[in-house]
This record gives sequence, C-alpha cells and structure tokens, in this order.
Amino acid sequence: MRGKFITLEGIDGAGKSSHLTFIAERIKQRGYEVFTTREPGGAPLSEKLRTMLLHEKMQPDTEVLLMFAARREQLLETIQPALERGTWVICDRYTDSTYAYQCGGRGLPEGRVQVLEQWVHGHLQPDLTFLFDAPLTVARERLEKGTANPDKFEREQSEFFAKVRDAYLRRAGQYPQRIKVVDSSRTLQAIQADLASYLDAL
Ligand code: TYD
Repeated sequence: MRGKFITLEGIDGAGKSSHLTFIAERIKQRGYEVFTTREPGGAPLSEKLRTMLLHEKMQPDTEVLLMFAARREQLLETIQPALERGTWVICDRYTDSTYAYQCGGRGLPEGRVQVLEQWVHGHLQPDLTFLFDAPLTVARERLEKGTANPDKFEREQSEFFAKVRDAYLRRAGQYPQRIKVVDSSRTLQAIQADLASYLDAL
C-alpha cells in the first residue's frame, strides 16, 4: 500500500520544524517506515537550488519557477519512490508555502502557481497538512531568538508575514479536510495531543 504524505506548514517562527520528530516517532510506533525531508531541498540538486532561493535576490517569477523546479526534482528522486515503497513521507513545507509566500507575501497571481502545481504534482497532493499557526508577535520573537544568520525570507518585515499568515489561513478555510490548523502558541503537551489525535485518525 502507498505510504501517506504529510506536510508541515507555517510562517517562519511558528515552530513547525520542532514538531517533526514527534510526528515521525508517532508514525514509527505504529510500525511504518518514515522518511522526513524539507522544501525547498531534499534531493542534491534541490538543495543547491535552496541555497540560491534562500540567499539570492531574484525576480518573483524566477523564485516561483525555481521553487517548482526544486519540487519536481525531489518529488521524482525521493518522495514518490518512498511513497510507492509504502513509506510515510513527512515534508517540512510544500506547495501551500508557495501559495502563502509567493502569492500571499509577494503578490504573485494564484493562477500562475495553479498551472505549475498541476504540471509538477497534479496527481499527488498531501494526505494531511499541519498548519502551525501563531500570532505574528510570537513568531517574530521566536525567530529573533532562534536565528543567528537570517535568510532572505526571515529578513522580511512584519507586513510580509501578516500577508503570508492570512494566505495560509485562507487556504486552511478552503481545504478543511486536509489542512489542520494547530495553534502553536500553546504548551508543547497541548500541541502534541492535537497532533497525536489527527495522526491516529489518519
Ligand atoms: P524554512 O523551512 O523556514 O527553513 P529554516 O527553518 O531552515 O529556515 O525555510 C525555507 C524558506 O523558504 C521559508 O522562509 C519559506 C520559503 N519558501 C517559500 O517562500 N516558498 C516555498 O514554496 C517554499 C517551499 C519555501
């Protein structure tokens, strides 16, 4: 049987990456193989594109095209083969990030992303997406504490992140079956209890 595909989303500082291990462990306890990865990145070429994407100034169209190039490469190289082997895949960010950052944050029309999404993975959508959500002030504070060398995105202003967050929440409203909003300003125990119940249901 094909593995399940789970993605983690949220604005920088919302705390998503710190929950990846808990999610992976929970799934392993049920006896499944788990493969964890991230976007942009994952495959060797996609990691090279990540370095460019996170550190070089570029046109918004170039940014979105490179995001999808990195995505296509890692989908074929790692994600799809793993799912076909029956392994569960957890990916730190996926196409919801593109809608949130490039459309919400940078103002790119959604129609452009829809075309690329259809091309790159029209046949493969996540089975479950956790959207880690926290008020901007909480996320900014975490970001400032935890990041010594901020990348291009982390150096954006609060207005940018406000637009990214709104875009994320709009998508969660559009796809309530797939996208589960997790209030990540709560205690670790409360967050993990939510994650566990969604995972057990899946
Ligand atoms: P992030 O996942 O936050 O990694 P780290 O925790 O190592 O900083 O960084 C990736 C950045 O890339 C993040 O700021 C959001 C951005 N991004 C996009 O703008 N669009 C996308 O489609 C993806 C996948 C990421």
